[in-house]
Amino acid sequence: VGYVGAIGGNDAIDVVLDGLSALEYRGYDSAGVAIPTPEMTVAKAAGELSALEETVSRDELAGEAVGIGHTRWSTHGAPSDDNAHPHCDEAGRVAVVHNGIIENYQRLRDDLVDAGVAFRSETDTEVIPHLIGRYLDRGADPEEAFRLAVDHLEGSYAIAAVVEGSETVYAARQDSPLVVGLGDHGTYLASDVPAFVEHTDRVRYLEDGDIARLSADSVAVTDVEGRPVDRATETVAWDAEDAEKSGYDHYMLKEIHEQPSSLRQCLRGRIDELEGTVDLPELDTIDHDGPIQFVACGTSYHAALFGAERLRTGGMDAHAFLASEYASDRVPVDEDTLVVGVTQSGETADTLRALREADRAGATTLAVTNTVASSAARECDHTLYIRAGPEIGVAATKTFASQQLALALLAFELGDGPTRGELEALRDIPGQVQTILETTDARAVAETFVDADAYFFIGRGYHHPVALEGALKMKEITYRHAEGFAAGELKHGPLALVTEQTPVFAVVTGAGETARKTIGNVKEVEARDAPVVAITDGTSDVARYADHVLELPAVDDLGASVLANVQLQLVAYWVANLLGRSIDKPRNLAKSVTVE
Ligand code: G6P
Repeated sequence: VGYVGAIGGNDAIDVVLDGLSALEYRGYDSAGVAIPTPEMTVAKAAGELSALEETVSRDELAGEAVGIGHTRWSTHGAPSDDNAHPHCDEAGRVAVVHNGIIENYQRLRDDLVDAGVAFRSETDTEVIPHLIGRYLDRGADPEEAFRLAVDHLEGSYAIAAVVEGSETVYAARQDSPLVVGLGDHGTYLASDVPAFVEHTDRVRYLEDGDIARLSADSVAVTDVEGRPVDRATETVAWDAEDAEKSGYDHYMLKEIHEQPSSLRQCLRGRIDELEGTVDLPELDTIDHDGPIQFVACGTSYHAALFGAERLRTGGMDAHAFLASEYASDRVPVDEDTLVVGVTQSGETADTLRALREADRAGATTLAVTNTVASSAARECDHTLYIRAGPEIGVAATKTFASQQLALALLAFELGDGPTRGELEALRDIPGQVQTILETTDARAVAETFVDADAYFFIGRGYHHPVALEGALKMKEITYRHAEGFAAGELKHGPLALVTEQTPVFAVVTGAGETARKTIGNVKEVEARDAPVVAITDGTSDVARYADHVLELPAVDDLGASVLANVQLQLVAYWVANLLGRSIDKPRNLAKSVTVE
């Protein structure tokens, strides 16, 4: 998750360990360091940084000028000493830390194993030091070996590598952040500025395809072919606390803005555009044609509603249940049932309880989670990771979007594969989220309605769970009354609450039957003088009945529900911000609730 390197000065070990500790807020499950001089020293440990500190002697390593370190948040292989970074080649000359996912690692690993290389971990990362080691064996110098190794890699990566006896650090970046720091007493590199902001505020951001060579007094950046590229030096005006949030006022806002990249991580290696297929090899052994039941709580329940509907669209028999009601609901479940627990943390007691009951009844269980080796992942028969990265804000944002996307992938995996158009639509979602983040009017809408009596959200079909989630976000962080309804249900009761003081947020996309019906419901509230905010792609004429519009690009309904939710996240965020609420830690709420 976080990594840091220091070159120059006397105490790389201190800079690295302190840098890792500055990145602790991002969450991690294991950590490690490598000091390559005079000979290679590598220490790693599962668990907290304090566990790592017990295995490494700052005193013995004092005086050494170069080091790299890493805190890991598992994506391949459980948290363990072996799976922690840095990873080494067989001879122990090369040590590598890596963020991201090497998509072609299985093929690279198979080739290396065929060539006689023995692997020590289950990680995708370990192929990198072995590749570098093999080029060193063939006589390449370290820089050449690093470059040649990187050339084999497909996927996303920010890599730092050190070679025994050398005071140089090699780094490469593709789709994963890498920032270099230029200090008076050395150079630094890290996934994120807070790792070294204590030592320097002069930074250079690397870009995709860049390879860097760092020594105590210089940083040389080139492209893959070795041609020099120029990256401007900038000064960051952040103190340590701002830096943790990358300059955002709150983790929630940072995490909302991380969605384009977290959604790309979710899709990475799972859609094959050439073949036109979705491939989730982790689910290959599920052979299922019986009923499918989703169990989940809170935001994850809204994702589950969305997922169940998506599976039904694919012709499957799928339903979502609140995990806390699953048992008392007497839901019929047996060996033919597939029960899918959707849980970001993988530790929610209500969800675990429902999964255990399903297991006892003989059902096949699947965890859809963000947390490798969580209880849900360990206990279920199968696991699908959503790969959103750690989420610090108590109100779930990027994990919801990644759950939506992962469940869309699940629908293709269990049902018929995607059409070409569906596949392209999925692929385009991260970029469209980026466009929304750059163009949204959510803040202005929030300013207009900050003093409203209550907020209502309506949607149909895929947009119904989005309406529920929009309201939940609003409640959680603004402490204001907010309710989400199936658009058609509004007239069966809640309409009594609608006044000119209660804005109604309506998610309406496309111009088909579903949209037409929701527009009918919009007219009902408009006739009661309630202000209407339409979240729409503009294909229908809903804007005529709306006081404000939050625009979406024109995409299919599935994509639109991901995008619409981003607009609603931002409205809730800005209302809470204007009210001065404790956005990242709302009163009475916990990130993960481990009691029933
Ligand atoms: C808590 C959190 C919610 C979350 C729910 C389910 O109540 O406050 O934001 O949606 O748990 O969490 P899970 O980890 O199972 O997705």
